[in-house]
Amino acid sequence: MKQMCVVGVGYVGLVTAACFADLGNRVIALDINEERIEGLKRGEMPIYEPGLEELVSRNVRAGRLSFTTSYPEALDKTEFAFIAVGTPSGVDGEADLRHVAAVARTIALNMRTPLIIVNKSTVPVGTGDWVAEIVQSHQTKAIPFSVVSCPEFLREGAAISDFMNPHRTVLGSLDPEAAEKVAQLHLPLRAPIVITDLRTAEMIKYASNAFLATKISFINEIANICEELGADIKEVSVGMGYDKRIGPFFLDAGLGYGGSCFPKDVKALAYMAADKGRHPQLLTAVMDINNDRRPMVIDRLKEMVGDLKGCTIGLLGLSFKPNTDDMRDAPSIDIANSLQELGAKVRAFDPVAMKVAAPLLPEVEMAPDPYSMAQDCDALIVITDWNEFKHLDLERIRDQMKEPVVFDGRNIYEPEQMRSIGFNYRGFGRGYNGHMVNAKFEQDVIVAPA
Ligand code: UDX
Repeated sequence: MKQMCVVGVGYVGLVTAACFADLGNRVIALDINEERIEGLKRGEMPIYEPGLEELVSRNVRAGRLSFTTSYPEALDKTEFAFIAVGTPSGVDGEADLRHVAAVARTIALNMRTPLIIVNKSTVPVGTGDWVAEIVQSHQTKAIPFSVVSCPEFLREGAAISDFMNPHRTVLGSLDPEAAEKVAQLHLPLRAPIVITDLRTAEMIKYASNAFLATKISFINEIANICEELGADIKEVSVGMGYDKRIGPFFLDAGLGYGGSCFPKDVKALAYMAADKGRHPQLLTAVMDINNDRRPMVIDRLKEMVGDLKGCTIGLLGLSFKPNTDDMRDAPSIDIANSLQELGAKVRAFDPVAMKVAAPLLPEVEMAPDPYSMAQDCDALIVITDWNEFKHLDLERIRDQMKEPVVFDGRNIYEPEQMRSIGFNYRGFGRGYNGHMVNAKFEQDVIVAPA
């Protein structure tokens, strides 16, 4: 049993703390937010993450996991201190490292025994070295310490299973012995461990997220082209995905990426490049394509409905993706605001995010279920691909609506089925979005000369 503390009880910190405790370690999770810590002591989770509440309570009961706001208590006899605090975007897209710096200073002032400081937060390349400088310059007496970068690759909604079944663990340090000790903590996960230097580990995290965001923008660009040429993006993705060099993941066209990671990390990487005088051409295009997705929904809806003034539009889903109540950079916010600016009334239903969304969208009426949400609507927009939306009673939805119009921002329904039920239906990049497209396509067919 190793003893460790985890600073920050957000998604990454709380999942890391609970999972390491479950692997048999003694973990103290620390946060300066007293309300959060008091809530956790009462068993209240600050976030919605499937399985987390049960995992936390099991490990608290077993005496392996506890919560505190006190650094001296968290650092007492602790061998590892994980930093898992937020690194939001600054004004120009650079990562804001205020919280990381504050944690490094406070650790330096409170550590009494040798410590391995492990950074989990996504931080610009070079931050590990900077953290080491901060700790060194704030220690009141010299106590040995090392800094290790161990970036997280957890998806919200699947964070516990991602932690327990990682594709790989990346560790970066200039101190091989410290990296080896952190590697030992990860051995029970039985995944490949890549040990490298600090800066390379930090870069692996940004490059991984930027690559996944690139895949999403790539498929969205192909969806735009499919729409013009009468091809079907869902089938294009399936056909591409069987190629092992491409893979089937992150090829779902739709409203693009949101959330707390991709938008911020792509921006931060582009900022790092520009800061060194490099023009990040590809990353710029990835962001531009993603930024176009939300206004595109409004344009499509206007094509389908006409003037939106006075219309009631229903939003199926609010969170940035399914299985989370996270509303950070959620497309629903921009789309609801644009609809309201155009004079439409907006109603919404989300299985878990309505409580978090309500204060962010004060003018949006929250409905208790999808059917009452659809009542008298002039159109519905699918915003989040929650599984439960795939199995709605669509005839019942149609009967509730004033006009049976659906724009499917996540391509969860099949165009032919929707049309057979009587919906005026469109998605992103679906071949048969309009018969006009097919007609135009037929005219454009080039017959090879005999
Ligand atoms: C992501 C990374 O996956 C994780 O490794 C990282 O450490 C944190 O950021 P997360 O933000 O939780 O995780 O969400 P993810 O499931 O990766 O989806 C990100 C966004 O991309 C969502 O908005 C999702 O709707 C969108 N997406 C994803 C697509 O539009 N198409 C896809 O094919 C996949």
